[in-house]
Amino acid sequence: MQYQWYPGHMTKAKRQMQEDLKLIDVVVELVDARIPLSSKNPDIQTMASTKARVLLLNKADLADPKKTDAWRAYYEAQGYLTVAVNAKTGLGIKNVNDVIMNACEEKLARDKRRGIMNRPVRAMIVGIPNVGKSTFINAFAKKAITKTGNKPGVTKGKQWIRLNKNVELLDTPGILWPKFDNQAMGLRIALIGSINDEILVATELAYELCNFLTGNYPGALAQKYGVEECADGNQVLARIAKKRACLQKGGILDLEKAAGFVLDDFRNGRIGNFSLEEP
Ligand code: G4P
Repeated sequence: MQYQWYPGHMTKAKRQMQEDLKLIDVVVELVDARIPLSSKNPDIQTMASTKARVLLLNKADLADPKKTDAWRAYYEAQGYLTVAVNAKTGLGIKNVNDVIMNACEEKLARDKRRGIMNRPVRAMIVGIPNVGKSTFINAFAKKAITKTGNKPGVTKGKQWIRLNKNVELLDTPGILWPKFDNQAMGLRIALIGSINDEILVATELAYELCNFLTGNYPGALAQKYGVEECADGNQVLARIAKKRACLQKGGILDLEKAAGFVLDDFRNGRIGNFSLEEP
Protein backbone atom coordinates (compact mmCIF):
# COMPACT_ATOMS: atom_id res chain seq x y z
CA MET A 1 0.00 0.00 0.00
CA GLN A 2 1.26 3.48 -0.86
CA TYR A 3 0.63 6.22 1.66
CA GLN A 4 0.27 9.59 0.06
CA TRP A 5 -0.67 13.07 0.97
CA TYR A 6 -1.92 15.59 -1.54
CA PRO A 7 -0.81 19.02 -0.46
CA GLY A 8 -2.82 20.91 -3.12
CA HIS A 9 -5.27 22.52 -0.72
CA MET A 10 -2.42 23.20 1.69
CA THR A 11 -0.97 25.92 -0.53
CA LYS A 12 -3.46 28.47 0.77
CA ALA A 13 -2.94 27.36 4.36
CA LYS A 14 0.80 27.76 3.93
CA ARG A 15 0.49 31.25 2.51
CA GLN A 16 -1.79 32.24 5.37
CA MET A 17 0.64 30.85 7.89
CA GLN A 18 3.56 32.74 6.38
CA GLU A 19 1.56 35.94 6.86
CA ASP A 20 0.68 35.04 10.44
CA LEU A 21 4.27 34.16 11.27
CA LYS A 22 5.21 37.80 10.70
CA LEU A 23 3.00 38.79 13.63
CA ILE A 24 4.29 36.46 16.28
CA ASP A 25 7.30 35.93 18.54
CA VAL A 26 7.03 32.25 19.34
CA VAL A 27 5.85 29.20 17.42
CA VAL A 28 4.19 26.57 19.58
CA GLU A 29 4.32 23.41 17.54
CA LEU A 30 2.15 20.42 18.37
CA VAL A 31 3.14 16.90 17.45
CA ASP A 32 1.50 13.60 18.29
CA ALA A 33 3.44 12.03 21.17
CA ARG A 34 3.02 8.58 19.62
CA ILE A 35 4.93 9.66 16.48
CA PRO A 36 6.91 12.79 17.36
CA LEU A 37 9.00 12.49 14.21
CA SER A 38 6.44 11.55 11.54
CA SER A 39 3.88 14.07 12.78
CA LYS A 40 6.39 16.92 12.61
CA ASN A 41 6.66 18.89 9.41
CA PRO A 42 10.32 19.85 8.90
CA ASP A 43 9.46 22.85 6.70
CA ILE A 44 8.30 24.90 9.68
CA GLN A 45 11.95 24.96 10.75
CA THR A 46 12.89 27.12 7.77
CA MET A 47 9.62 29.05 7.71
CA ALA A 48 10.03 30.11 11.34
CA SER A 49 13.80 30.10 11.66
CA THR A 50 13.91 33.46 13.46
CA LYS A 51 11.20 32.65 15.99
CA ALA A 52 11.42 31.18 19.46
CA ARG A 53 10.30 27.55 19.38
CA VAL A 54 8.27 25.45 21.75
CA LEU A 55 7.38 21.84 21.01
CA LEU A 56 4.39 20.18 22.65
CA LEU A 57 4.06 16.42 22.59
CA ASN A 58 0.28 16.19 22.68
CA LYS A 59 -1.88 13.11 23.28
CA ALA A 60 0.78 12.03 25.77
CA ASP A 61 -1.98 10.03 27.46
CA LEU A 62 -1.96 7.65 24.48
CA ALA A 63 1.83 7.31 24.19
CA ASP A 64 4.43 5.23 25.99
CA PRO A 65 5.68 7.55 28.79
CA LYS A 66 9.27 6.26 28.63
CA LYS A 67 9.45 6.96 24.91
CA THR A 68 7.88 10.38 25.42
CA ASP A 69 10.67 11.21 27.89
CA ALA A 70 13.24 10.02 25.37
CA TRP A 71 11.70 12.18 22.64
CA ARG A 72 11.65 15.21 24.90
CA ALA A 73 15.36 14.75 25.60
CA TYR A 74 15.98 14.33 21.88
CA TYR A 75 14.24 17.57 20.94
CA GLU A 76 15.61 19.53 23.89
CA ALA A 77 19.09 18.59 22.70
CA GLN A 78 18.10 20.27 19.42
CA GLY A 79 17.26 23.50 21.22
CA TYR A 80 13.51 23.17 21.67
CA LEU A 81 11.71 23.72 24.92
CA THR A 82 9.26 20.84 25.24
CA VAL A 83 6.23 19.85 27.28
CA ALA A 84 4.24 16.60 27.22
CA VAL A 85 0.55 17.47 27.32
CA ASN A 86 -2.93 16.04 27.16
CA ALA A 87 -5.06 18.75 25.60
CA LYS A 88 -8.19 16.76 26.26
CA THR A 89 -7.83 16.76 30.05
CA GLY A 90 -5.54 19.77 30.34
CA LEU A 91 -2.71 17.78 31.90
CA GLY A 92 0.63 19.56 31.47
CA ILE A 93 -0.95 22.69 30.06
CA LYS A 94 -0.29 24.84 33.09
CA ASN A 95 3.45 24.56 32.37
CA VAL A 96 3.13 25.82 28.83
CA ASN A 97 2.83 29.47 29.76
CA ASP A 98 6.15 29.45 31.65
CA VAL A 99 7.82 27.56 28.85
CA ILE A 100 6.63 30.15 26.33
CA MET A 101 8.07 32.91 28.52
CA ASN A 102 11.38 31.03 28.83
CA ALA A 103 11.54 30.53 25.09
CA CYS A 104 11.12 34.29 24.63
CA GLU A 105 13.74 35.29 27.19
CA GLU A 106 16.03 36.77 24.55
CA LYS A 107 13.26 38.80 22.98
CA LEU A 108 12.14 40.08 26.36
CA ALA A 109 15.69 41.10 27.24
CA ARG A 110 16.00 42.87 23.88
CA ASP A 111 12.72 44.72 24.46
CA LYS A 112 13.93 45.77 27.88
CA ARG A 113 17.20 47.14 26.49
CA ARG A 114 15.18 49.18 24.02
CA GLY A 115 12.94 50.49 26.76
CA ILE A 116 9.92 48.49 25.59
CA MET A 117 8.13 47.28 28.67
CA ASN A 118 5.06 45.13 29.17
CA ARG A 119 4.58 44.19 25.56
CA PRO A 120 2.99 40.75 25.58
CA VAL A 121 4.63 37.87 23.83
CA ARG A 122 2.62 36.75 20.81
CA ALA A 123 2.30 33.04 20.14
CA MET A 124 0.84 30.85 17.44
CA ILE A 125 -0.07 27.17 17.45
CA VAL A 126 0.96 25.08 14.45
CA GLY A 127 0.73 21.40 13.56
CA ILE A 128 -0.49 18.83 11.07
CA PRO A 129 -4.21 17.96 11.02
CA ASN A 130 -5.62 16.03 13.95
CA VAL A 131 -2.73 16.54 16.39
CA GLY A 132 -5.11 18.42 18.70
CA LYS A 133 -4.54 22.09 17.84
CA SER A 134 -8.15 23.21 18.38
CA THR A 135 -8.51 21.14 21.53
CA PHE A 136 -5.29 22.64 22.86
CA ILE A 137 -6.29 26.23 22.07
CA ASN A 138 -9.62 25.71 23.84
CA ALA A 139 -7.99 24.18 26.89
CA PHE A 140 -5.20 26.75 27.00
CA ALA A 141 -7.59 29.65 26.60
CA LYS A 142 -10.13 28.35 29.08
CA LYS A 143 -9.20 30.89 31.68
CA ALA A 144 -8.63 33.68 29.25
CA ILE A 145 -11.59 36.00 29.16
CA THR A 146 -10.50 38.67 26.76
CA LYS A 147 -10.31 38.32 23.05
CA THR A 148 -8.43 41.25 21.61
CA GLY A 149 -8.09 42.41 18.05
CA ASN A 150 -10.03 44.53 15.67
CA LYS A 151 -13.78 44.56 15.81
CA PRO A 152 -15.42 42.45 13.13
CA GLY A 153 -16.73 44.53 10.28
CA VAL A 154 -14.43 47.44 11.01
CA THR A 155 -11.10 46.12 9.88
CA LYS A 156 -10.11 42.66 8.85
CA GLY A 157 -7.83 41.83 11.72
CA LYS A 158 -6.50 39.00 13.72
CA GLN A 159 -8.19 37.66 16.80
CA TRP A 160 -5.84 37.33 19.73
CA ILE A 161 -6.65 35.49 22.90
CA ARG A 162 -5.13 37.31 25.82
CA LEU A 163 -3.98 34.51 28.09
CA ASN A 164 -2.58 36.76 30.79
CA LYS A 165 -0.67 39.97 30.96
CA ASN A 166 2.35 38.34 29.35
CA VAL A 167 1.05 36.18 26.53
CA GLU A 168 -1.33 36.55 23.60
CA LEU A 169 -2.28 33.65 21.40
CA LEU A 170 -3.49 33.83 17.83
CA ASP A 171 -6.87 32.14 17.89
CA THR A 172 -6.49 30.28 14.60
CA PRO A 173 -3.77 27.65 14.34
CA GLY A 174 -1.41 27.25 11.42
CA ILE A 175 -2.07 24.02 9.58
CA LEU A 176 1.00 22.14 8.46
CA TRP A 177 0.91 19.16 6.15
CA PRO A 178 2.33 15.78 6.96
CA LYS A 179 5.60 15.35 5.16
CA PHE A 180 7.29 12.02 5.01
CA ASP A 181 10.01 10.70 2.84
CA ASN A 182 9.43 7.03 3.37
CA GLN A 183 6.48 4.70 3.51
CA ALA A 184 7.15 3.62 7.09
CA MET A 185 6.50 7.19 8.24
CA GLY A 186 3.38 7.37 6.08
CA LEU A 187 2.16 4.17 7.66
CA ARG A 188 2.57 5.59 11.17
CA ILE A 189 0.64 8.73 10.27
CA ALA A 190 -2.10 6.51 8.84
CA LEU A 191 -2.13 4.36 11.97
CA ILE A 192 -2.84 7.27 14.28
CA GLY A 193 -5.65 8.34 11.95
CA SER A 194 -4.23 11.48 10.37
CA ILE A 195 -4.76 10.31 6.80
CA ASN A 196 -8.35 9.68 5.85
CA ASP A 197 -9.17 5.98 6.20
CA GLU A 198 -11.38 6.09 3.14
CA ILE A 199 -8.34 6.16 0.90
CA LEU A 200 -6.59 3.41 2.83
CA VAL A 201 -7.21 -0.27 3.24
CA ALA A 202 -8.16 -0.81 6.86
CA THR A 203 -7.18 -4.47 6.88
CA GLU A 204 -3.66 -3.67 5.69
CA LEU A 205 -3.27 -1.01 8.35
CA ALA A 206 -4.54 -3.39 10.99
CA TYR A 207 -2.11 -6.12 9.86
CA GLU A 208 0.74 -3.67 10.19
CA LEU A 209 -0.48 -2.61 13.61
CA CYS A 210 -0.72 -6.22 14.79
CA ASN A 211 2.80 -6.83 13.52
CA PHE A 212 4.12 -3.78 15.28
CA LEU A 213 2.41 -4.50 18.58
CA THR A 214 3.36 -8.18 18.75
CA GLY A 215 6.95 -7.22 17.95
CA ASN A 216 7.26 -4.22 20.24
CA TYR A 217 4.67 -4.64 22.95
CA PRO A 218 4.29 -8.42 23.20
CA GLY A 219 1.26 -9.53 25.17
CA ALA A 220 -0.79 -6.37 24.59
CA LEU A 221 -3.08 -7.87 21.93
CA ALA A 222 -3.26 -11.18 23.79
CA GLN A 223 -4.43 -9.37 26.88
CA LYS A 224 -6.93 -7.16 25.11
CA TYR A 225 -8.52 -9.71 22.80
CA GLY A 226 -7.66 -13.05 24.41
CA VAL A 227 -5.87 -14.36 21.33
CA GLU A 228 -2.55 -16.07 20.86
CA GLU A 229 0.05 -13.81 19.27
CA CYS A 230 2.40 -14.81 16.47
CA ALA A 231 4.78 -13.08 14.08
CA ASP A 232 2.18 -12.93 11.29
CA GLY A 233 -0.12 -9.92 11.63
CA ASN A 234 -2.63 -11.50 9.23
CA GLN A 235 -2.99 -14.49 11.51
CA VAL A 236 -3.38 -12.36 14.60
CA LEU A 237 -6.08 -10.25 12.97
CA ALA A 238 -7.90 -13.40 11.83
CA ARG A 239 -7.77 -14.74 15.38
CA ILE A 240 -9.20 -11.50 16.72
CA ALA A 241 -11.99 -11.64 14.11
CA LYS A 242 -12.77 -15.21 15.12
CA LYS A 243 -12.71 -14.46 18.82
CA ARG A 244 -15.04 -11.51 18.37
CA ALA A 245 -17.28 -13.49 16.02
CA CYS A 246 -16.82 -11.06 13.10
CA LEU A 247 -18.42 -13.12 10.37
CA GLN A 248 -19.80 -12.41 6.94
CA LYS A 249 -22.59 -14.37 5.28
CA GLY A 250 -21.64 -17.99 4.96
CA GLY A 251 -19.45 -17.89 8.04
CA ILE A 252 -16.45 -16.24 6.34
CA LEU A 253 -14.32 -14.12 8.69
CA ASP A 254 -15.08 -10.42 8.37
CA LEU A 255 -11.53 -9.09 8.58
CA GLU A 256 -12.55 -5.58 7.61
CA LYS A 257 -14.85 -5.32 10.59
CA ALA A 258 -12.16 -6.66 12.93
CA ALA A 259 -9.63 -4.23 11.41
CA GLY A 260 -12.04 -1.36 12.02
CA PHE A 261 -12.38 -1.95 15.73
CA VAL A 262 -8.73 -2.87 16.30
CA LEU A 263 -7.69 0.46 14.73
CA ASP A 264 -10.33 2.31 16.69
CA ASP A 265 -9.27 0.65 19.96
CA PHE A 266 -5.64 1.52 19.22
CA ARG A 267 -6.34 5.14 18.32
CA ASN A 268 -8.32 5.67 21.48
CA GLY A 269 -5.79 4.05 23.79
CA ARG A 270 -8.02 1.09 24.62
CA ILE A 271 -5.28 -1.46 23.92
CA GLY A 272 -2.69 0.46 25.90
CA ASN A 273 -0.26 3.37 25.65
CA PHE A 274 2.09 2.84 22.77
CA SER A 275 4.58 4.90 20.84
CA LEU A 276 5.23 3.94 17.26
CA GLU A 277 8.63 5.64 17.04
CA GLU A 278 11.66 6.12 19.19
CA PRO A 279 14.47 8.58 18.78
P1 G4P B 1 -6.65 19.61 15.07
O1 G4P B 1 -7.27 20.93 15.45
O2 G4P B 1 -5.16 19.62 15.20
O3 G4P B 1 -7.06 19.10 13.73
O4 G4P B 1 -7.15 18.50 16.13
P2 G4P B 1 -8.42 18.53 17.11
O5 G4P B 1 -8.21 19.51 18.21
O6 G4P B 1 -9.65 18.62 16.30
O7 G4P B 1 -8.28 17.08 17.75
C1 G4P B 1 -8.37 15.91 16.99
C2 G4P B 1 -8.85 14.75 17.85
O8 G4P B 1 -7.87 14.47 18.86
C3 G4P B 1 -10.15 15.04 18.63
O9 G4P B 1 -10.84 13.82 18.75
C4 G4P B 1 -9.63 15.45 20.00
O10 G4P B 1 -10.59 15.23 21.03
C5 G4P B 1 -8.46 14.50 20.15
N1 G4P B 1 -7.43 14.99 21.09
C6 G4P B 1 -6.84 16.21 21.11
N2 G4P B 1 -5.91 16.27 22.08
C7 G4P B 1 -5.91 15.06 22.69
C8 G4P B 1 -5.14 14.50 23.76
O11 G4P B 1 -4.24 15.10 24.34
N3 G4P B 1 -5.44 13.20 24.09
C9 G4P B 1 -6.38 12.48 23.46
N4 G4P B 1 -6.59 11.23 23.85
N5 G4P B 1 -7.11 12.98 22.43
C10 G4P B 1 -6.88 14.25 22.06
P3 G4P B 1 -12.09 13.48 17.88
O12 G4P B 1 -12.18 12.02 17.82
O13 G4P B 1 -12.07 14.26 16.61
O14 G4P B 1 -13.25 14.04 18.74
P4 G4P B 1 -13.68 13.60 20.22
O15 G4P B 1 -13.19 12.20 20.43
O16 G4P B 1 -13.06 14.57 21.15
O17 G4P B 1 -15.15 13.71 20.16
